[in-house]
Amino acid sequence: MDRVDRIRERKREHLELALTEASQSRRASGWDDVALVPSALPERSLGDIDLSAELVGHRLRAPLLIVGMTGGHPDARMINKVLGAVAEAHGIAVGVGSQRAALEVPELAPTFASVRDHARTVPVLANIGALQLIAQGERPALGAEKVARLVDMVRADAIAVHLNVVQELLQPEGDRVTGPLLPALAALVRVAPVPVIVKETGAGIDRESARRLVDAGAAALDVGGVGGTSFARIETERAGVGEGPFADWGIPAAASVLECRGLGVPVIATGGIADGATAAKPLALGASLVGIGRAALLAANDGVEAAILTVGRLIDELRTAVLLSGGARPSDLMARPPVLTGATEAWARQRGLLA
Ligand SMILES: Cc1cc2nc3c(=O)[nH]c(=O)nc-3n(C[C@H](O)[C@H](O)[C@H](O)COP(=O)(O)O)c2cc1C
Repeated sequence: MDRVDRIRERKREHLELALTEASQSRRASGWDDVALVPSALPERSLGDIDLSAELVGHRLRAPLLIVGMTGGHPDARMINKVLGAVAEAHGIAVGVGSQRAALEVPELAPTFASVRDHARTVPVLANIGALQLIAQGERPALGAEKVARLVDMVRADAIAVHLNVVQELLQPEGDRVTGPLLPALAALVRVAPVPVIVKETGAGIDRESARRLVDAGAAALDVGGVGGTSFARIETERAGVGEGPFADWGIPAAASVLECRGLGVPVIATGGIADGATAAKPLALGASLVGIGRAALLAANDGVEAAILTVGRLIDELRTAVLLSGGARPSDLMARPPVLTGATEAWARQRGLLA
């Protein structure tokens, strides 16, 4: 198998495994520990609820981002086309998966660009791994010219840089040099032609790291917390080595929103969110946007029309949750702080994160 085939094969395996239950964390996201406080006397009608939001200076019709997942394989091109069309239909943001493969093999670029072909007016996020920003053996660190290529490839409005140290260490062909990431990120922020968003991929972001990322110039943080798709599980499944002790390593998604909020940049809450009632919870905790990964992938598998309906249902559910909590817009959810219970409440208390 040559290099291109190996990349295609890895991307195909990721997609295939992500659709199975084996990809899902056995540890809770914490959303069940977050209870919205309902209002018995909501004053608004559904038509009055304004879900509009903002991401890196762009208006969205709902506070939703289809997070970066794929590219680099013919199936990925189809999926990206559907995800782009869904984002355009609902006026929400959409990302592509790591574009490293297309930097190495330019013929793979159209499998990423198909998102932009269909998401013509909404924000599109480019994607690269933070570990690509530092030299690994023979491979040099990503320079300004390649950063510009990533952005041009999808005419991106922002770059999402993913932290996935757990995944790389568990992946047989993964990167082994994991630092120093922060100066590399700060350097990227300086040369990037668009804002840089830092995201995790299923292990969450802690407050101390979040603070340093904000100081380095991150325009937003996507918590990518434990409780949904686990790349540690996907990689160990691929390697056929059993789940191992790091399968659910990290910070549960709800706790990671508490870790990252209040630092002056928008927080995107991702990790195990598949319906609009759950999506309302991180917004009540202080997140600005909600990220959906696997739920969007599952929807995309059913084709464009079905996927548009599925994501439309999620947005309608979110609208209903805002109304039933007595609000007119998502930011009103924060005026009635949710009740925290269980592991999330214990996490917040012991980490000193309660407001
Ligand atoms: C098939 C698949 C591929 C992914 N590839 C990437 C990637 O290339 N870059 C990235 O930043 N995140 C990647 N992710 C992680 C997602 O952006 C997200 O953080 C994760 O799926 C958690 O969200 P979920 O629980 O809603 O699925 C991928 C996720 C899936 C399901």
